Amino acid sequence: MLDWSDGNYALTAASLAPATDQVLDVAAVSAGQSVLDVACGTGNAALAAARRGATATGVDPAIGLLQIARSRAAKDDLAAEFLAGDASALPVPEASFDVCVSVFGVIFAPDAQRAICEMLRATKPGGVIALSSWLPGGAVDRAAKLLREAITAAMPPTAAVEDGPPPPQWQDPDWISSLLARCGARDVELLEFDLRFAAVSPEAWFGEQEEHHPVWRFGRRVLDDDAWADLRRQSLDVLHEVNEDSEAFAATSRYVVARAVR
Ligand SMILES: C[S@@+](CC[C@H](N)C(=O)[O-])C[C@H]1O[C@@H](n2cnc3c(N)ncnc32)[C@H](O)[C@@H]1O
Repeated sequence: MLDWSDGNYALTAASLAPATDQVLDVAAVSAGQSVLDVACGTGNAALAAARRGATATGVDPAIGLLQIARSRAAKDDLAAEFLAGDASALPVPEASFDVCVSVFGVIFAPDAQRAICEMLRATKPGGVIALSSWLPGGAVDRAAKLLREAITAAMPPTAAVEDGPPPPQWQDPDWISSLLARCGARDVELLEFDLRFAAVSPEAWFGEQEEHHPVWRFGRRVLDDDAWADLRRQSLDVLHEVNEDSEAFAATSRYVVARAVR
């Protein structure tokens, strides 16, 4: 099983902070609101919402990440609580939040429709949900796609669906729109943004994922040495191809933020 508390996900979370702010801006999170952060990880969106004066709740199944989120909230004295739970059965009452967000989080839930319907269930009528997902073609997407393919080849299909990067449908804005509509969301809007990742070299970026990122670490465990060496070589080819900095590594990944009203 993929364990998101394995490795050091906090490093990745730090690089996602600009996207967190973007999702909160799209959802127009402001002081006095109640905000639910689904698949909160180390608490980025919940804590950023609390910094805006909202009362925030984060939900995630990874206990180790929730502990980090709780200590971040305590350190900065922020109004945020963190609950263990799964996106398919959120441990919160019906219609209890003004805003429900998920930053590259709900896209990992095995049953996408159930998870989106849960986000809507938790949101008050007239409230807003907003979530982000990577679009095809960027560095993150292409490296994650290679990883997913390698994990899928090495594991039984059902397990690979539950353990690995999000399935490709999440890269299709039309699919996201119809998913939201199927769950009864209205006024669906899709907005696109860029996020830039940097490291001292493509090799260093891949090395960071290999050492610290829970999904790459999971891949390293399930692939044999030859398959891992192949994945590494293919990933570095892609990273060199997309590199925007001739003296180091920088790559832009495009993502979509879907916003809808319950
Ligand atoms: C890429 S991380 C994003 C974390 C956080 N939203 C952020 O911006 O840093 C994906 C998160 O999804 C969580 N996750 C995976 N499967 C989940 C599920 N079925 N229900 C809820 N969260 C899940 C993981 O534990 C992890 O924290």
